[in-house]
Amino acid sequence: MPSIAGVRSSPMSIVGADVSSPQKRRLRSNSDLVDDTVISTPSKPCSPLKTKSPRRCCDDSPNRRRTNVNETVAIDNIPKMRKSPKKKLLDSFLDKPIWNPTDSEQLSAVKEALHVSTAPSMPVCREVEQKRIVEFCRQCVEQEKAGSLYVCGCPGTGKSLSMENVNKSLAVWAKETGGELPEVLTINCTSLSTTSEIFNKILENSQPHKKVNNRSTPLRQIQQLYSQKQQSTGTKMMLVIADELDYLITKDRVVLHDLFMLTTLPFSKLILIGIANAIDLADRFLPKLQSLNCKPMVLSFRAYSMDQIIMILKQRLMALSYTVFQPQALELCARKVAASSGDMRKALGICRAAIERLETELRDDTCTSNLTSMVRVDHMAIALSRAYKSPIVDTIQSLPQHQQIVLCSAVKLFRKGKKDTTIGELNQFYIDVCKSSLIPPVGIMELSCMCRVLGDQGILKLGQSRDDKLKRVTLQIDEADIIFALQGIRFFAAVFSK
Ligand SMILES: Nc1ncnc2c1ncn2[C@@H]1O[C@H](COP(=O)(O)OP(=O)(O)OP(=O)(O)O)[C@@H](O)[C@H]1O
Ligand SMILES: [Mg+2]
Repeated sequence: MPSIAGVRSSPMSIVGADVSSPQKRRLRSNSDLVDDTVISTPSKPCSPLKTKSPRRCCDDSPNRRRTNVNETVAIDNIPKMRKSPKKKLLDSFLDKPIWNPTDSEQLSAVKEALHVSTAPSMPVCREVEQKRIVEFCRQCVEQEKAGSLYVCGCPGTGKSLSMENVNKSLAVWAKETGGELPEVLTINCTSLSTTSEIFNKILENSQPHKKVNNRSTPLRQIQQLYSQKQQSTGTKMMLVIADELDYLITKDRVVLHDLFMLTTLPFSKLILIGIANAIDLADRFLPKLQSLNCKPMVLSFRAYSMDQIIMILKQRLMALSYTVFQPQALELCARKVAASSGDMRKALGICRAAIERLETELRDDTCTSNLTSMVRVDHMAIALSRAYKSPIVDTIQSLPQHQQIVLCSAVKLFRKGKKDTTIGELNQFYIDVCKSSLIPPVGIMELSCMCRVLGDQGILKLGQSRDDKLKRVTLQIDEADIIFALQGIRFFAAVFSK
């Protein structure tokens, strides 16, 4: 239920997708879990302020699990994708002919499909969030009650994109039911010349035919409009979508407060949707609303998981009649982006950069004629390494080959769903990897020594046991970093693809 002015309903928040960014394995709960997380314990708020750019806030602290500090209600966030999207990805890609990257028409069609400004007509993976927003607006309109909703989430999680769709859905709803559409005003707060200009815009839209009254401020005039029954009668409901709201937090918190307070006035017709990165805006900056029991409802967009990123990329590439990427290359991109920020903007940029790697290779190199002209894992690895260069990647890349094989074996083993293993079991996988690559394996004593060295570097964690073979082994770093570091090396690329 929306928090509706006048009704004084108990405020509640929806954590459609608590913004739990994936993080290093030992810190991360389950970045691959797609949905259904009910979080009710308060957590550390994410840094709310974006000092330079409003985009940066959540990105700065990807390791934090963000929740709303009050009640949270999990929603069935995302369609379940348990039926191995990787496998489906493989199937759907390989039944199309391979593209020709030297064909400029194909090249520009692919780049366009992956461009951030190319919005799919029905974005996948955000259906539930969109439905919630539409439902909130619909309820406000039907009951002719003001209300506020705060949409938050890390950069590139589809908040702005979803709002475009919400507008379309509202129009469809109004057409189908004969319901009256509210006056819609979308404002990007970063484009305001002064923060209080937001009130000019709201006033202009709520009374388009009225002469400007220069004796009173626009804020005051809106307050009067929504405070007196007589004045407000006859005015249409108004939906204000204020995107990049973080800008107001850094610039002028009073404006932010005044804006939300408008929804609490007795005859308010304002439906306010504020969109920002900071999770705890409502709690930190709108205490008065809280005390009035008119705190905005909170809908949080969770960072995209690997499966979701694959699904979104797949949807975008579906329009093309040819295969551009090796499925493993897309998987690598999705894995790495999901493990760091879950930012779709970043994933799209990296895919485009990988295409550019292929273009450069085709231009510069004649020896590649026997290789596939698809974008391969090595192109993706280079594009990724430019986008993220983490010290752990350097460390892994400079390890001796057998230590790298141990890590590669551990990743293969953990891919089977295990969370930890023993040195004995790891040894079996290590021997298999060595054999498949015609490399003589070292003995188990030496392997155990290597695990200790990797443990000293903080890459593995070893348990206690008198018998070396029974010592438990867990990864202390993200699998994605290992795959990413080793995929660029052709030997390992072959091992991972087996
Ligand atoms: N579900 C999706 N399906 C297809 N493309 C998506 C999806 N989500 C995000 N994108 C792509 O990523 C881009 C960034 O998404 P969007 O602008 O909605 O992010 P945001 O959450 O508003 O980020 P910010 O906080 O930085 O404003 C979109 O323009 C779109 O190209
Ligand atoms: Mg946005």
